Amino acid sequence: MAQVRLVDLGKTYDGASANTIKGLDLEVADGEFLVLVGPSGCGKSTTLRMIAGLEEPTAGEIWISDRRVDGLEPRERDIAMVFQNYALYPHMTVAQNMSFGLRLAKVPKAEIRQRVETAAETLGLRDYLNRHPKALSGGQRQRVAMGRAIVREPGVFLFDEPLSNLDAQLRGQMRTEIRRLHDRLSATTVYVTHDQVEAMTLADRVVVLKDGRIEQQGSPQELYDRPATRFVAGFLGSPQMNMLSGEVRQGALDLGGGSQLALSADRAAPLEGRKLDVGIRPEAFRLAAPEVAVIHGRAEMVELLGATSLVHFVHAGQACTALLEPSEAPRAGQPLHLGLSPDRISLFDADSGRAV
Ligand SMILES: Nc1ncnc2c1ncn2[C@@H]1O[C@H](COP(=O)(O)OP(=O)(O)O)[C@@H](O)[C@H]1O
Ligand SMILES: [Mg+2]
Repeated sequence: MAQVRLVDLGKTYDGASANTIKGLDLEVADGEFLVLVGPSGCGKSTTLRMIAGLEEPTAGEIWISDRRVDGLEPRERDIAMVFQNYALYPHMTVAQNMSFGLRLAKVPKAEIRQRVETAAETLGLRDYLNRHPKALSGGQRQRVAMGRAIVREPGVFLFDEPLSNLDAQLRGQMRTEIRRLHDRLSATTVYVTHDQVEAMTLADRVVVLKDGRIEQQGSPQELYDRPATRFVAGFLGSPQMNMLSGEVRQGALDLGGGSQLALSADRAAPLEGRKLDVGIRPEAFRLAAPEVAVIHGRAEMVELLGATSLVHFVHAGQACTALLEPSEAPRAGQPLHLGLSPDRISLFDADSGRAV
């Protein structure tokens, strides 16, 4: 068991004009499942590779439990890493692939056999130990890659987009397996992904990274309900949070297109006259009678998803989506009247993008 601590960690690649990682401070608790999420190029892999020892920091410190590890070789760090392209050795069997690192480390044979058997049991690979990778499905190969990490019994598991190469159905299945595995082993985990669904479903805590800096961190629900910035609001959630331009005038939030939403006096007063971006989750809309509705429009397109329906409409020139019950959703072309409760919206300063 182990903690990970990054202290003012920085990375500038040779020849790069900007810093890739800009003073990252982060603690991962013992047994915690931490997901580092952000768009492509924001520095997730760089951060993970520095923890693993595959990339050297240009500033700051990395601690694993009570040892400072930057400067140590990867194999001295008590970590194991699972990559996107699981890179199994094609000429080795599953058992040989899983035990390779242990054999290199001269772990006694009996112990290797025992650890491989235990990991194979955990991962449902018992019947495949003598097969070669080419005789396995994508999901089984990914499991072997995880098995290779598990047998090393590391203090910290590092995952870099391990599911990106799998098709959607398998990805969902493996996601569940990874979380179940974590609940079983309680191993400290840092998991990197650009996929907000993986972040939301897997994490104890999500850290959103943008341009090499932490944008926000918290439980998945906290980030979803109370995004600190417009960026986090737009990044988490599918379909995306709707974003309308607004302004508070005489105590009411003007959403353009003749729409007004009454705010409580203490919420409205400090915002009077400020340009705002108003974030509204698709599920925050509900169908309302025309005389009490806030938004009046027309359903442009309706997607029937079975359990829910996505109703697309345009408000004040802005494309929006409402998530409604299929039984109540209008058909394309029909009028649409939507209600909205003021406690279901997020307000951001239009210039800074910060929540207000
Ligand atoms: N070896 C490298 N040399 C120079 N620049 C790099 C190198 N690796 C990554 N970068 C740059 O650092 C930034 C972050 O990359 P990376 O950590 O791979 O992002 P992510 O994993 O979030 O997609 C990108 O702009 C990328 O081009
Ligand atoms: Mg990456």
